[in-house]
Amino acid sequence: MDARSLIDELYREMDLSREGWLALIGARSHLQDDDREYLYALARKRAQEHYGKDIFLRGLIEFSNFCKNDCFYCGIRRDNSELHRYRLTKDEIVKCADTGYHLNFRTAVLQSGEDRGYSDDDICEIVRAIKKMHPDMAVTLSIGEKEKESYQMYFDAGADRYLLRHETANAAHYRAMHPPDLSMRHRMDCLFTLKEIGYQVGAGFMVGSPHQTDACYADDMRFLKTLGPHMIGIGPFIPHHATPFKNDPPGTLEDTLFFLALLRLAFPKALIPATTALGTIDPRGRELGILAGANVVMPNLSPRGVRRDYLLYDGKICTGDEAAECRRCMELRMEKIGYHVVTSRGDYRG
Ligand code: 5AD
Ligand code: FES
Repeated sequence: MDARSLIDELYREMDLSREGWLALIGARSHLQDDDREYLYALARKRAQEHYGKDIFLRGLIEFSNFCKNDCFYCGIRRDNSELHRYRLTKDEIVKCADTGYHLNFRTAVLQSGEDRGYSDDDICEIVRAIKKMHPDMAVTLSIGEKEKESYQMYFDAGADRYLLRHETANAAHYRAMHPPDLSMRHRMDCLFTLKEIGYQVGAGFMVGSPHQTDACYADDMRFLKTLGPHMIGIGPFIPHHATPFKNDPPGTLEDTLFFLALLRLAFPKALIPATTALGTIDPRGRELGILAGANVVMPNLSPRGVRRDYLLYDGKICTGDEAAECRRCMELRMEKIGYHVVTSRGDYRG
């Protein structure tokens, strides 16, 4: 079957067989420009059926760059000894969320490395404080793999959503990107647990990471179909100079846009961000991401003093801007392509 027929089938059925995924994914390097535009147009159409031209905002608060893990791709990995480590206080974190609220954010995403420096009670206290101050603000956690009891505690404290990219659904690829103490099975189990508890759950993967093959992407698509996430975050891999993957090439704009569009067709209602990494590899990356089917942007709300230290990859954008500047900048960028940033929690419309 040719690429267009596969795209049509995906649009119609919202899924493909493994063979279908492999054929479509394998065809991406020789797609004609008009085939790509056809794919993006269908993805935009699908997004607009559910969300119109609304773009949802999430304010990202990178509250600690301590991490007990040593993932080979990540700039804040444990073994990166050149990194200045920081940890915001509970008050500072809550204050960031409050700043965000006054900039019309209705979601605060609290993200950190896997930091043992905060207890479960600390996290619950932060969540409760934000919820008490602003009951109409959604709180998303992105703090890694935890025990079921911990996830339940945060949820009971008021956390609404949880982001945990699965990173890859291919066992060999997972092993090639992580040290042996991390397990793909455990990470996937965390995602199912989070869903069971009642969180809106986000998974995702990097595009163009070292050792990634077309079969890896097909496995990602099939795993996501099994999980049924509410949010899906993908962005290009970008090398970081102090990691084992420092000499590997970054993922491309074309590939990332291609996978964004496939995800939109496979998950019509999912909340899919045009990520900072996409904006880093191309100055128009985030706009093009929206035009390929994404419907979320996540400007940075972290205090300016720490932004440069939350360097997951080299060249990360927006490390010198105030929260208000990023907020305004995103609004203008979206207006320019005919979309509008809305003041709403942007929950999954099930
Ligand atoms: N390039 C791009 N994305 C990265 N992440 C971590 N390191 C990199 C990198 N070098 C992504 C991972 C993680 C998310 C927070 O950032 O997918 O889940
Ligand atoms: Fe941060 Fe544009 S979004 S400066």
